[in-house]
Amino acid sequence: MPAKKEGFNRVLDGLKKRQLQHDFKLERAAETYEPIQNIGSGAFGIVCEAVETSSNDKVAIKKVAHASATPTLARRTLREIRVLRYIDHPNIVTLRDIFRTQGPLGIDVFLVMDLMQNNLHHIIYGNEEPLDEYYINKFLGQLLRGLEYLHVASIAHRDLKPSNLLVNQDGTLRIADFGMAKFTDNSSRKHDDEEHCYYMTQHVATLPYRAPELLFVLPEHSTAVDMWAVGCIFGEMVIRNELLPGRSVPGQIKILLTVLGHPPQHVIDEIRCERTRKLIQDYGTKADGEWDDIMHCKARGADQIVRGNCDTIDFVKQLFQYDATKRINIQDALRHPYIQRVTPQMAAQKKCPFRVKRDMMHVEDLSHQDLIKLMTQDVRSAENTYNEMHSGGSFWSAGDFQSERSYEIQKAKYETSSHTNGLDGQHELGYVSGGHQWRIPSYCAA
Ligand SMILES: Nc1ncnc2c1ncn2[C@@H]1O[C@H](COP(=O)(O)OP(=O)(O)OP(=O)(O)O)[C@@H](O)[C@H]1O
Ligand SMILES: [Mg+2]
Repeated sequence: MPAKKEGFNRVLDGLKKRQLQHDFKLERAAETYEPIQNIGSGAFGIVCEAVETSSNDKVAIKKVAHASATPTLARRTLREIRVLRYIDHPNIVTLRDIFRTQGPLGIDVFLVMDLMQNNLHHIIYGNEEPLDEYYINKFLGQLLRGLEYLHVASIAHRDLKPSNLLVNQDGTLRIADFGMAKFTDNSSRKHDDEEHCYYMTQHVATLPYRAPELLFVLPEHSTAVDMWAVGCIFGEMVIRNELLPGRSVPGQIKILLTVLGHPPQHVIDEIRCERTRKLIQDYGTKADGEWDDIMHCKARGADQIVRGNCDTIDFVKQLFQYDATKRINIQDALRHPYIQRVTPQMAAQKKCPFRVKRDMMHVEDLSHQDLIKLMTQDVRSAENTYNEMHSGGSFWSAGDFQSERSYEIQKAKYETSSHTNGLDGQHELGYVSGGHQWRIPSYCAA
């Protein structure tokens, strides 16, 4: 390598290192984790690869800077913590530790996860060739398994997209980034203006995966939102392009109308936003596209995945129902002949711990002040070391605002309902003090 280039690379490395040190000031947690390099960033977090010094394990640390500064950031952070802290599933990212430091604009929160090697976005676009059908099926099956675990507990992810699906070299896929996750009481159909406004304006990156009920400002059936995104991700793996690649809300609506045809009249009648209704009506009627054409990938030549395959077309059609109540749900998706054919029979899953659901129930209604209070209580200060925390026994957070008695009553209800769901009734995997199963030490306030 020419000396000039070598020198330039050295300067670049030095700059990267300084940036890493600046981004990941871990205070006393630096005794436990040593940041190695930046590996990712999103709209809310920056992620670095690090080493846990005691075990030499490689981990990923996601920093949510000034997590307490706005209600949106605080809610996102609390959601992510509360979904992940008790979850133990092969297709959902593993959270190992959480701590916080005091930054100039409020609390910085650090989530320590098992390190994954890649994300599905890079896998899809990192190669000249489109993904092999074997891997498409493998990824789709794992995505559905992870979602089943969440949806049965009425938790919707609501931000599914390839960059939020982490993938290892052995083909393991894990769902990540739970900042939008929500406990969905589909019966309440509450409209959240703060969040909706935020979503319609800022979070443009997720537009291609956004379900029509969000685009059209309809009452939300949140788990169905994830099923729409599953269709988009499946399509993207097949055609190696975004299936519905909008870059603005009106643009996205027009793409839906062009590709998928007009929504049924009863869906249009439900739209409260005059401008959106007019946009749809003025666009004129288009015939529904043929899935053979929509999912055609030139680079696959004669080996098209969808063409002439009735099961695949039926599966995709059921995912892309405009009417969320008619869209296929996760359990029917797993039973669908297409999925049955492409993924091996899978055993019944263990159940999402009840306390995940319980913790998530309250997050949406909290004021900014309460969000900050609970975030502070749920996340240990970096000053309390990992080892000190490990010696604690209780898994209760100081932020638990329900009595043990009310928890037991709700848990019993949950278990009864899981029985009727045909699940195996396993629960509370995270709640074994002192045993190997628990991962997050304790949530006592510092
Ligand atoms: N455990 C992990 N192992 C390896 N890489 C990870 C891990 N967690 C996150 N990443 C990488 O960091 C990126 C950003 O993480 P994440 O999606 O959680 O942040 P975000 O700011 O909430 O993103 P978004 O813009 O989607 O809201 C991911 O797309 C992924 O590439
Ligand atoms: Mg992300």
